[in-house]
Amino acid sequence: MEVVILPSAAAAGALAAQAIRELLATKPAAVLGLATGSSPLPVYDALARMQAAGEVSFSHASAFALDEYVGLPADHPAGYRAVIRTEFTERVDMPPASVHVPDGQATDLQAACRGYEAAIAEAGGVDLQLLGIGSDGHIGFNEPGSSLASRTRVKTLTELTRADNARFFDGDMDLVPRHCLTQGLGTIMESRHAVLLASGPGKADAVRAMVEGPVSARCPASVLQFHPHATVLVDEAAASKLELAGYFRYTYANKPDWQGL
Ligand code: GLP
Repeated sequence: MEVVILPSAAAAGALAAQAIRELLATKPAAVLGLATGSSPLPVYDALARMQAAGEVSFSHASAFALDEYVGLPADHPAGYRAVIRTEFTERVDMPPASVHVPDGQATDLQAACRGYEAAIAEAGGVDLQLLGIGSDGHIGFNEPGSSLASRTRVKTLTELTRADNARFFDGDMDLVPRHCLTQGLGTIMESRHAVLLASGPGKADAVRAMVEGPVSARCPASVLQFHPHATVLVDEAAASKLELAGYFRYTYANKPDWQGL
């Protein structure tokens, strides 16, 4: 796991966007894993700027979202299908048919989950997976207690996550669905490069547990310690509780130029 401490969330977003641009330069048909929440927004902003400047193209790429709420109408603005579209894919040249989101309205949710896993496999797996982290250590919607080997499935959201996400539902927690579909931790672990972004003091405890705590379902993001290529991009506030912060800074300052992220 490489931890990079950056001066701002925007700087972290720019670095992740650069990694995606480099991936697409060598593999135009790359498969991207997309996250929602506020953490990846600087990445999407940077990629939209690169697209406008003609520096990158997503025309042959495809994407799989991490998760979706169960039961929201398809056009609900807080639904992740809409969020992924408005925050990212409609700002770049990725064909809408190449953007996949779990179907939270399916009558057979378990079949929808199996189908989602099959679609990821058929696409050849995810090349680069963007991730945020919840204040309780969740990634995707894999809440504490999630099996470290889990696949795409139905999960029940914690009250903390529903409270955190109420801001996307007019501040009314009662409007936040109780259930979701999410890629599992086992699914996420199969991505070839996992890039997690976290910023702000509210993420400092979760970042410390993920990076320096034991690998445990108590902090689902800690499973990334077993990922062969995981990059954690954090601002100073999110890094503020890391014991090894000095070493992480030293390592990045002395990173060989050829290495990339
Ligand atoms: C939601 C999403 C996660 C995201 C988390 C943190 O629960 N399902 O993928 O990482 O929120 O969101 P934010 O980045 O807004 O803090």
